[in-house]
Amino acid sequence: MPRSPPTPSFALRGALLTSIGDPFRDGLEGTRRYEGDGLLVVAGGVIVDAGPYVAVRRRLPPGTPVERLPRSTLLVPGFVDCHVHYAQLPVVASHGTQLLDWLDRYTFPAERAAAEPRHARRLASAFFDATLAAGTTTVASFCTVHPGSVDAFFGEARRRDVRAIGGKVLMDRHAPRGLADTAQRGYDESKALIARWHGRGRLGYAITPRFAPTSSPAQLAAAGALWREHPDCWVQSHLSESRQEVDRVRKLFPRARDYVDVYARAGLLGRRAIYGHGLHLSEREFAVLHASGTALAHCPTSNLFLGSGLFAWPRAKMPARPVRVGLGTDVGGGTSLSLLATLGEAYKVAQLGGTSLAPAQLFHLATRGGAQALDLDAHVGSLLPGMEADFVELDCEATPLLAQRVRHAEGIDDVLFALAVLGDERAVAATWVAGRCVHRRAAARQA
Ligand code: GUN
Ligand code: ZN
Repeated sequence: MPRSPPTPSFALRGALLTSIGDPFRDGLEGTRRYEGDGLLVVAGGVIVDAGPYVAVRRRLPPGTPVERLPRSTLLVPGFVDCHVHYAQLPVVASHGTQLLDWLDRYTFPAERAAAEPRHARRLASAFFDATLAAGTTTVASFCTVHPGSVDAFFGEARRRDVRAIGGKVLMDRHAPRGLADTAQRGYDESKALIARWHGRGRLGYAITPRFAPTSSPAQLAAAGALWREHPDCWVQSHLSESRQEVDRVRKLFPRARDYVDVYARAGLLGRRAIYGHGLHLSEREFAVLHASGTALAHCPTSNLFLGSGLFAWPRAKMPARPVRVGLGTDVGGGTSLSLLATLGEAYKVAQLGGTSLAPAQLFHLATRGGAQALDLDAHVGSLLPGMEADFVELDCEATPLLAQRVRHAEGIDDVLFALAVLGDERAVAATWVAGRCVHRRAAARQA
């Protein structure tokens, strides 16, 4: 598929904010950079300069057009959604069940519909429209068991030049008819999809066993073997989301020490492996995740909606063995594709566990922290020279309530916190991908 030519040089002048370190590991001071009057310079789809306007202006190549952003705008890196299911869009907000029943009653029927390629393409298109409108520029999404659902996902991502990780779901047992593969077929189809999509432009393949209850030990071992053959691919799955699920795993894998050990035995832990949830983990399991560099995707709206449990921040980030954590919307178990809305729920979940996440930590989770969890922080997640030019114009006065709150804000952290608690898609004025504006909010209707 032809790709558009590189974007020309241009610069945006306005307030810039970026995370530059890890506020969980290194403390809050010095891990983010804020410029009230900043200049961001883009050329060929990449950030080539960024910093205070007065300094960067002097280095600006003559003739570079400079656009001045509105006073209420804050320019931030594009958001990173580390865990989502694009084909579950039609079942978001489905009433009355918890995880295992929710899968049977709503999710599997919705995923079965993605066998039809035209339906899968429509879903992928609607998904990227919605994620970009929410300011999300990097996604790691599950597809369905059908290889065509992966083609639909990557085809749509490629058309928009979005950074996207995705993969065919592997399920060879306890799956309804029409959604099951076999260990061999799952391996073969995944391998063919890796050859077709992995490393093409901004796309990356994730080997995707759904979760331990729907894969035999043979299928998990085949997934591990495939990862060893393609170590620069990702692995994504679910881990310890509901107590019922954990009990089921204990019965299905009696020889494993615990849930994490099921994946460890299959060779499915390590950098570039990211697991959704991790709510009911033991100390041993956290230690193994830390030692192996495996990441968790915290999905607060999903955990609350499905009644799965509360993510234990102090345990996940214990200084002696911190685990890498990104944020996931987990739609359709999650209830919003907005990372801003997800931040608000992450804050509340942490509060219920006695932790008050700092604004800088929240902002980090939605941007650079997510990129770190996906091992993509050399490419996206911050507004620094050399990074791909994925960024968002946030409107800090998007709604009357937000405007009112921000008017009384005391500094940038206070503004950030208001955005996290009160913000959602409405606060995204524009989204830029690889130096191109791919979404601009419609003008507000006059009263
Ligand atoms: N565990 C296994 N599959 C799923 C899924 O599709 N969504 C969520 N939230 N948990 C899962
Ligand atoms: Zn999920």
